[in-house]
Amino acid sequence: MSGLQAIRYTRGKLEVLDQLRLPHEHHYDTISTSEEAFDCIKTMRVRGAPAIAIVAALAHGVELYHGGCKAPIPTEAISYIDSRLDYLKQSRPTAVDLTNAITHLKAVVRAVDIAALGDAAAPSAIVDAYIAAAEEIFRKDTETNLRIGEHGSRWLLANAPVKSPEGKVSVLTHCNTGSLATSGHGTALGIIRSLHSAGNLHHAFCTETRPYNQGSRLTAFELVYERIPATLITDSMAGALFATKKVGSHIAAVIVGADRVVRNGDTANKVGTYALAVLARYHGIKFIVAAPTTSIDLQTTTGADIKIEERKPEELTQISGAVVGADGKVDISRTVRVATAHQEIAVWNPAFDVTPADLIDAVVTEQGVVVKGESGSFDFRGVMPERW
Ligand code: MRU
Repeated sequence: MSGLQAIRYTRGKLEVLDQLRLPHEHHYDTISTSEEAFDCIKTMRVRGAPAIAIVAALAHGVELYHGGCKAPIPTEAISYIDSRLDYLKQSRPTAVDLTNAITHLKAVVRAVDIAALGDAAAPSAIVDAYIAAAEEIFRKDTETNLRIGEHGSRWLLANAPVKSPEGKVSVLTHCNTGSLATSGHGTALGIIRSLHSAGNLHHAFCTETRPYNQGSRLTAFELVYERIPATLITDSMAGALFATKKVGSHIAAVIVGADRVVRNGDTANKVGTYALAVLARYHGIKFIVAAPTTSIDLQTTTGADIKIEERKPEELTQISGAVVGADGKVDISRTVRVATAHQEIAVWNPAFDVTPADLIDAVVTEQGVVVKGESGSFDFRGVMPERW
């Protein structure tokens, strides 16, 4: 398992790695309140669907642990928790993991046997139940990802359209879906990790992932950290890569994560995912979505109903990084923000796009791999845990 940790937690203390400072600086922010968690998520110091949900859930747990809930009676304790969770839900709209975690946490506090405890004891029992459930979400995420890694690597090895002479596969991934986007191991990057650790990965390619550069800043960092054979490309190079049939760059699959997979299989993920899916189909390359069941939203019928977050123009017109000296060395003590476009140009900056189910070959969950049935659509009911 990777030593990289986006989230460090012990009861009453939550620390979150500031991903805006990566790959140059390793700095953890202490998060003690829902407001601090909201800001950390909104400003993308933590990002990635599972990590967002975990930070929100744990941050409110820390707040409760330190006496944040002063409600004298159980109904007030539940309304207080509800209001804090509803506030946290507004931080980022597209990833469904946060909504699913909140629905689960609200159900947990309502399941406390208030009648048996009585009004005086029930509020603290409600707080204890909340904290235990938030910790469970954090703990289970890594187990989930390890299972996704196993299922996904097995499916790809059985279905790869092309392999190296040694029987290994090369893959491309987009955005960041690794330890930094989860509690550990990762989803799409987890499959790549699992392929690598079993000796089945020939080569991994990662896109830069404009405009926020999660690929170059985070995925490239994780791949180098883990010594996984990997190459960085810009997003616009994917077509050229797929057309290359050289050993090593002959791609068997594009593997991506998900922010929301809806009932028919349409999938919202980092902007650029849809273009990769179209290219993959044209080139006969498998297109795999790695999604824990917490990223599946059976309430939404098709991708047309997914709310896509739009972010500020400066993410396209400016960029930040560490200074490179005349000797070519990176000076991590000096960071700068520079303009890369005319600052008055109009900008459209959707953070995500929707890939139609038709372009997706497999959705890998911790419960197994879901492929399209004879009707040509996905049916996730068999993999969904009852609580969702
Ligand atoms: O805007 P981000 O960085 O939060 O977007 C992240 C993605 O799109 C990931 O691919 C997705 O959340 C899956 S993370 C396991």
